[in-house]
Amino acid sequence: MTQLESKLRDKSAAVAVIGLGYVGLPLAAAFASAGFKVLGIDLQQKRVDLVNRGRSYKAGVDEKLLGKLVRSRKLIATTDHAQLRKADAVCVCVPTPLTRTRKPDLSHIIYEAEQVSRYLKNGQLVVLESTTFPGTTREVMLPILERSGLKAGRDFFLAFSPGRADPGGAAHDMRSIPKIVGGIDAKSSRLACLLYSRVADTVLPVSSAEVAEMTKVFENVFRSVNVALVNELAQLCDKMGISVWEVIRAASSKPFGYMPFYPGPGTGGHSIPLDPYYLADKALEYDFHTRFIELAADINESMPGYVASQVTAALNSRDISLGGAKILVLGAAYKKDVADVHASPCVKLIAILQKRGARVDYHDPYVPQILLPDGPQAAVKLDYGSLKSYDCVLIATDHSAYDYVKIARGARLVFDARGATREMNGKNIVRLGE
Ligand SMILES: NC(=O)c1ccc[n+]([C@@H]2O[C@H](COP(=O)([O-])OP(=O)(O)OC[C@H]3O[C@@H](n4cnc5c(N)ncnc54)[C@H](O)[C@@H]3O)[C@@H](O)[C@H]2O)c1
Repeated sequence: MTQLESKLRDKSAAVAVIGLGYVGLPLAAAFASAGFKVLGIDLQQKRVDLVNRGRSYKAGVDEKLLGKLVRSRKLIATTDHAQLRKADAVCVCVPTPLTRTRKPDLSHIIYEAEQVSRYLKNGQLVVLESTTFPGTTREVMLPILERSGLKAGRDFFLAFSPGRADPGGAAHDMRSIPKIVGGIDAKSSRLACLLYSRVADTVLPVSSAEVAEMTKVFENVFRSVNVALVNELAQLCDKMGISVWEVIRAASSKPFGYMPFYPGPGTGGHSIPLDPYYLADKALEYDFHTRFIELAADINESMPGYVASQVTAALNSRDISLGGAKILVLGAAYKKDVADVHASPCVKLIAILQKRGARVDYHDPYVPQILLPDGPQAAVKLDYGSLKSYDCVLIATDHSAYDYVKIARGARLVFDARGATREMNGKNIVRLGE
């Protein structure tokens, strides 16, 4: 048994987690809760200070638990990469955004690989968790790490294990989500499996880092394609006068071969709008066009514009033109019950409506301010009693906190882009996909 193996077994290993975001912070807390000494590394001093005060800024990490872990010195955060020398295992959870021309931007991964390489030591295990295209661990990280003079698979070990966080989805904690692990060789895979078996009930080894990388991108592409499909169906249902919501409910009765996806103003967040482009770009290296994937992205990205035209049509049918119309948009976050506006289609929708001359207020219980092309805009207070002062109340994100009965009763016109009112009838309610 190697020294690392025995340290992972008796939990005396020190684990470093780089990038304390949606993926990294819960992971750091999980390792610390399991009994490991954990070092959290982030570039943002503010985040590091918050963690060291036991303050959680990310959904999914309980403040009480975080406070306990920090006080017991099980979890310490820092911006100092030199501390990596103390780590036996290093998990890299940094962002993987797109460039302005929608190409994969691996700059964070490359920067962190360089940092890890500087302090790499014999016997260390390095695992990449960031979502990326197949080949990143072996083709991008490995050569940078080997600049240290140490050899992968012999002196240090390298694997990919995708973060599978579900922001806002309280039903799944870290332990219950199966952990996929693929190493650059059998030993790396075995050690990474051992590491994650301490914090996940189920660890699923796959035959290579590339399989693990492709699995993660495929999961997100699968979502993107299915959301696009139902968004397309919603547009057809609009024309045919069939309720897409009723169709989805009826189709969901099938106990096999079907799972429901729902239409809306488009996809947002850190993953679904981005990850398909990672795969599409890599595919070009193989002279292959991922037509399905790009078509899905195209449909999803067109949805804010489509919803804006449906809102315009609903107003026009009441002899109101969009120019000058007063609209209240409910929900700016990219999905229900989260405080995140990253790549939010609702923000894009607001920008389109404003550009076309509408006077748009917005409310979101979790988002006090949004950034629009003309500058920042603050949320208004929600007063169910004064909804009538708007020409249209547009449900863009179906937060649970809203009282949809009061909205339907109080508004002159409701445009529901999420099906939040699908059980209600009323001449003043117009839904996407009906
Ligand atoms: N958010 C999700 O639901 C989710 C789910 C699964 C996988 N992922 C993937 O996990 C990765 C991380 O995403 P996230 O949502 O946790 O991001 P995030 O934006 O929530 O957090 C990233 C953290 O990394 C820090 N950071 C940025 N650059 C850094 C660097 N060079 N060195 C150290 N720290 C750095 C940031 O300050 C931030 O605290 C991405 O590849 C993402 O696609 C995200």
